[in-house]
Amino acid sequence: MATVAAMRVSVAPMMDVTDRHCRYFLRQISPRVRLYTEMITAQAVLRGDQERLLGFDPAEHPVAIQLGGHDPVQLAAAARIAADRGYDEINLNVGCPSDRVRDGRFGACLMRDADLVARCVGAMAGAVTVPVTVKTRIGVDEHDSYEFLAAFVERVARAGCGTFIVHARKAILQGLSPRENREVPPLDPQRVHRLKREFPALTVITNGGIRSIEGIAAQLAAVDGVMLGRKAAEDPFFLAEVDARFLAGPDATPVADRADVVRRMCEYAARQARHGVRLHQVTRHMLGLYHGQRGARAWRRFLSERAGSPDATARLLLASLEVQRAA
Ligand SMILES: Cc1cc2nc3c(=O)[nH]c(=O)nc-3n(C[C@H](O)[C@H](O)[C@H](O)COP(=O)(O)O)c2cc1C
Repeated sequence: MATVAAMRVSVAPMMDVTDRHCRYFLRQISPRVRLYTEMITAQAVLRGDQERLLGFDPAEHPVAIQLGGHDPVQLAAAARIAADRGYDEINLNVGCPSDRVRDGRFGACLMRDADLVARCVGAMAGAVTVPVTVKTRIGVDEHDSYEFLAAFVERVARAGCGTFIVHARKAILQGLSPRENREVPPLDPQRVHRLKREFPALTVITNGGIRSIEGIAAQLAAVDGVMLGRKAAEDPFFLAEVDARFLAGPDATPVADRADVVRRMCEYAARQARHGVRLHQVTRHMLGLYHGQRGARAWRRFLSERAGSPDATARLLLASLEVQRAA
């Protein structure tokens, strides 16, 4: 089982954001935060290009894969492939509200069918030795009572899930875009706190709208861990402070400064280029690195305008440091 300490702070699965380049970058900032992949469907794992979909750098550990799907057999097979590749945790998406996901019967709509989720989790847990976890919401559509959430968790926990990551707002499956579903339904972290109180043996992680050190500290007083989404994408260097404050032991070496991170990413981008990865695929995740700092805008503009050029090389990252210093 993953220890509770290992789950204390994590970066959320985010489609089009938390790909391997993003995760490697975030890892240069925080050695200890737990990272999640984008959601990958079980079908894609079984039928797609596994190296492209599942490949990751060993530096990314601890790293969890998030799977989407509703077929226990497929999910179990995909979980085993992911575990064999070295992922530290297999997470099932029971929270995503997008249309595409709704039609495929996975994501948040599965909350209505706790028995099916339990069968999926049971099959996955039987196929791997790493923890199988569930990321869900506090409710879906009219199923938004605490009792509904508790019954769901109770049923799925019995099938072999010891960790629940709960986005503390319900999903509305008709009429709201995925983006609105991350903003419009109100946050209710108290629900997640109650879940922890009533299921003390479970590891309960809260997610949604957490954007400050004080916010993290307040949540950690009530639950086992927090998951950060948009804040980590917009202001990635925030994770350095988070690491120092909540994850590093007293004798841990200090995390890198921003320029160190850029230099390490220069080496990484040069290595990736040898595998055909374009510079922009790496640097697009880095644009928020100087968020709130002097020279942030000039640095961001320099990288976003130049990294997409066909002849851009990793050395552009070293030049970007001069631009930031001179601004
Ligand atoms: C661009 C983007 C993509 C997302 N993709 C996923 C996903 O693939 N799987 C998932 O479970 N949640 C996904 N989410 C939701 C986040 O994991 C998280 O639950 C949500 O953003 C709330 O946390 P935050 O307020 O800290 O951002 C996504 C969020 C964003 C902003």
